[in-house]
Amino acid sequence: TGYVTFDPGFVNTASCASAITYIDGDAGILRYRGYPIEQLAEKASFLEVSYLLTYGELPTADQLAAFSGKVRNHTLLHEDMRRFFDGFRYDAHPMPVLASAVNALSTFYQDSLDPFDADQVEISTVRLLAKAPTIASYAYKKSIGQPFMYPDNSLGYVENFLRMTFGVPATGYEVDPVVAKVLDMLFVLHADHEQNCSTSAVRLVGSAQANLFSSVSAGINALSGPLHGGANQAVLEMLESIHAEGGDVASFVRRVKAKEQGVKLMGFGHRVYKNYDPRAAIVKKAAQDVLARMPQPDPLLDLAMQLEEIALADDFFVSRKLYPNVDFYTGLIYKAMGFPTKMFTVLFALGRLPGWIAQWREMMSDPANKIGRPRQLYTGSVQRDYIPVEDR
Ligand code: CMC
Repeated sequence: TGYVTFDPGFVNTASCASAITYIDGDAGILRYRGYPIEQLAEKASFLEVSYLLTYGELPTADQLAAFSGKVRNHTLLHEDMRRFFDGFRYDAHPMPVLASAVNALSTFYQDSLDPFDADQVEISTVRLLAKAPTIASYAYKKSIGQPFMYPDNSLGYVENFLRMTFGVPATGYEVDPVVAKVLDMLFVLHADHEQNCSTSAVRLVGSAQANLFSSVSAGINALSGPLHGGANQAVLEMLESIHAEGGDVASFVRRVKAKEQGVKLMGFGHRVYKNYDPRAAIVKKAAQDVLARMPQPDPLLDLAMQLEEIALADDFFVSRKLYPNVDFYTGLIYKAMGFPTKMFTVLFALGRLPGWIAQWREMMSDPANKIGRPRQLYTGSVQRDYIPVEDR
């Protein structure tokens, strides 16, 4: 008592001890449970990584089959939940719809909300992982006025999501295996990132012993901001506006450097990475591969590469250690896959889900967990006396 550390934005404050994800921001290193992100991105599936993050070890073949089977069994939404989507405006952005629907899961599964009952935590984990892609695709279908697709549980996790998103009931949808593989890999890259803003939101809400669905819903809302997951949408909008104005990259960079109000190089910079974001390096390569398969080259890829080249050679960015982050190239891939811009952050949320779940579970099982309750430095008025309204 009596001693308070002032650290706006928690730049130097560790809020917890965690054994899940390791980042060395100066060296550009990211590991989940000790495994380098490069190896996981190349070799592991998203459900395998979800298992790893949640339970601490890579699954055996039997464990993975059992886990995938449980997730498959829970992809359907309660029929009453379909009506939930009709309450939103016809063109609602899918991020707040996703956050609301995930929160609403706690009204449908009131039997499994106890954060200290291992069986209830387990079934909530599976339900959340299984139903999030269904909710995300319904949020999208709602925003374009198409009918909802039921999950097809003969398909894999990502394949099912792609079919529910792009298919229509009468004709179905043929999943492109290359698209599914790349999306699965992008989900792996997004799966956890230690105490980022949304994960900290999940932990803070959960620290009051709120249930998993409510805590993760808070994380989805935090992620929607343009400084966090919303950056992937903001990057594409930035590239589109540079393109619409004639593709003058140098003049855009000048505006960034002049710190014009609201003009930032979106997809650049990171609180922890002061070196190339290792995820961005993998995404850049994937973007080049995926876009090379397109019948038409996307002029926005060229603009993005020009921006990166100029920025990495410019003292403004070099001296501030600003490098491309994970959001810089992902939007170009999502666009090539056919996702509209407003779905980009939803894709980030689907990828981040196992991280939020694993962090919430780790906190709940930590006997040292206390309710999150930061202090403040009071800057308001000293004591003064009330004056009746007629005398003011
Ligand atoms: N463009 C131009 N200048 C920048 C940028 C940028 N993208 N990012 C940081 N700066 C400048 C900033 O103005 C400041 O300059 P000065 O020292 O002259 O005041 C300096 O670099 C340090 O920046 P900061 O704002 O103190 O850094 P932070 O750690 O508080 O913020 C950040 C980190 C990611 C919010 C910020 O870099 C940013 O706004 N980037 C653009 C949005 C973005 O791409 N977000 C995605 C982050 S990665 C994945 C995710 O979380 O979703």
